[in-house]
Amino acid sequence: MVKGINHNLNGKQKRLQTLIGSIRSKLAELGDVSRERRLLIQKIDNVNIEQNTLSQSSNIQSEHEEMLRTAIEEATDPSILGIVRDIKACLSDVNWKQDKSEFYPTGSEVGKRYTESNLHAQLIGPDGSVAKSEDFMLGVFILGPWTLYKDHSHIAPEFYLNLSNKSDWRFNFGPWQRYGAGSLIWNPSKQIHATKVSDKPFLSIFAWLGHVNCFCKVHQSQDHNQIEQQLLQSFEMTQH
Ligand SMILES: [Fe+2]
Repeated sequence: MVKGINHNLNGKQKRLQTLIGSIRSKLAELGDVSRERRLLIQKIDNVNIEQNTLSQSSNIQSEHEEMLRTAIEEATDPSILGIVRDIKACLSDVNWKQDKSEFYPTGSEVGKRYTESNLHAQLIGPDGSVAKSEDFMLGVFILGPWTLYKDHSHIAPEFYLNLSNKSDWRFNFGPWQRYGAGSLIWNPSKQIHATKVSDKPFLSIFAWLGHVNCFCKVHQSQDHNQIEQQLLQSFEMTQH
């Protein structure tokens, strides 16, 4: 279990610790445990919650709050209900942030909808609400509906635990593949990956296993405009 477990925690600390415990349990129960997943579990176990001061939470902006609540309501798969319930309990306990390109060099175009709709909360990391870490980041990541998160790469090895019922992914510009709730995505260092979100917001747990202050690099592709147009058209059709 998480090192430094403290039974004298207050309500907020208990809720956050419960969420981390749910994430850890899910990672451990998902079939054969790969070397990378073992490393992730080990990093979670090595976090010393007791010695860290919990950061203050901030209020989420109202337009994002609706998206966040919808993402949670739509994450209905029984396999991940425990984690989703625990995220819901912690909504006001974590610091929700929108990435305004701080993970990307100036001038990077990650995608219009990505810029508008991304949201994350670090549980563990440089700004972690549970514990500070400079070599490990674990948190909740959300994208709004009809979003292309363009092909990108980073030195940091990355995990996603999908909580939404569906999202589409491609790796190194290969074919798009659909992933369901409870599935894991493993991006080794520098693997190029892109995400497509359709009608419902995308909700996930993310982890960076190192190099948490690295920049991401966008890999532009000729089909980005076309994909964004298709998503926009689909969105407009839902408005009629
Ligand atoms: Fe990534």
